[in-house]
Amino acid sequence: MTDRPTMIMGSRRSERRIGILCINMDPASRDSLEVLLKQTAGAHVVDNVDQHINPREVMRMLEQFQHRVCVVDFDDPETGARVSQRLHDGCDTSINIFAVSNDAHPDAIIKAMRSGCSEYLQKPLRGDQLLDALVHVEARRQGKLLGQKGRVITVMGAKGGTGVTSLALHLALNLVQRHQQKCLVVDQHPALGDLALYLGLGRHQYSFYELVHNMDRLDADLLQGFLLQHPSGLNVMDSPEAIHAFPTAASDAIEHTLAFLAENYQYVLIDCPPGLSEDTCAAIRQSDRLEIVITPELPAIHNAIRAIEYLTGLHYPDENIDIILNRSSRRGALNDREIEASLHRPVAVRIPNNYELIVNAINAGTPIDFSRKTDLAVPLDAWADLLIGEEPDAAKESKGARGLLSLFGSQSK
Ligand SMILES: Nc1ncnc2c1ncn2[C@@H]1O[C@H](COP(=O)(O)OP(=O)(O)OP(=O)(O)O)[C@@H](O)[C@H]1O
Ligand SMILES: [Mg+2]
Repeated sequence: MTDRPTMIMGSRRSERRIGILCINMDPASRDSLEVLLKQTAGAHVVDNVDQHINPREVMRMLEQFQHRVCVVDFDDPETGARVSQRLHDGCDTSINIFAVSNDAHPDAIIKAMRSGCSEYLQKPLRGDQLLDALVHVEARRQGKLLGQKGRVITVMGAKGGTGVTSLALHLALNLVQRHQQKCLVVDQHPALGDLALYLGLGRHQYSFYELVHNMDRLDADLLQGFLLQHPSGLNVMDSPEAIHAFPTAASDAIEHTLAFLAENYQYVLIDCPPGLSEDTCAAIRQSDRLEIVITPELPAIHNAIRAIEYLTGLHYPDENIDIILNRSSRRGALNDREIEASLHRPVAVRIPNNYELIVNAINAGTPIDFSRKTDLAVPLDAWADLLIGEEPDAAKESKGARGLLSLFGSQSK
């Protein structure tokens, strides 16, 4: 495969990879940046200059690097935004601008993003946050190189509680961690979705539905103010927290918003509530694949059959639908042959019943570890491989190049 960040980077190992120019940064943050970057071979702080630096000078200072980053101090947001805007307007698109600030308020983040910053780092700087931002630089570069539009995958339960949220988040994490994909999971529940909770993230002030309502202002800068960041690099969009007053959204606005998200990610996964509401149908229309999660019980299978009939009747392509059998067990009342015969299609992925492992992961807010080949990790690997379009063997070969640091060549074989 040539479309992997690791491969693209790997062909140029001798180059100096990441040049970072600090602008107006306080000495303590500059020092901690240097310390954190010591772990990332190939990343180098070029200098710390004041706010009067001009775009031409920035381009000259970073020209020898494959990846070029300016980290602008935003503790004074007016000055930070002025500098960022100047660099954004005056430099070419190879320059990535990160904001760094003590202020974590969403308005501050939106201001920075609107002035041209692609990442917002909080002080004191943390290694995971920094690496995450650097991985996005690579993903953006890869997106530009390949001119790709990401894929939208809807994960929907045939009935409530089949395990959609548990599976969608682990599938997304697998795509991030094993395949280095830039990935977003949208919690499309109209109220109190579980996604952020299961990942151990706090709630976000804004939900997917607020983004949909701001459709006419949609751009990459606005999007940043809506994201929860998981330490793995996975981005999450929360559901509304209100338990009453369900949000409404026009179907075409949902479709338009998802199309926009696909331009910004390699994978957009949608964690849908059960049932074919108008919002869910809009999401499915915009999706490249629909993953219907069933459990080995009659109501789930019955509902899945009805949902497939309905959707294919509306011309959703039958071949784009996968059946995911969750909580599969040899001792279940229905065997796999009976389930496949009822559905008139094979089960694409079987996830075994392992309540203890899943519930412990959820309660701790710590997803399962894919490096341990547990009975849950193996089928999740296979599911991600299926979506990526890789044979499992080829996927195994790629594991040697895993890890955030290896994206930037510090773990050369
Ligand atoms: N493979 C599995 N083995 C055992 N338990 C599981 C498995 N997958 C999910 N569960 C459990 O099933 C319950 C429901 O899971 P989850 O919340 O992910 O379902 P859901 O389909 O998203 O539910 P909802 O319809 O409420 O959104 C949780 O307690 C979870 O721990
Ligand atoms: Mg759920």
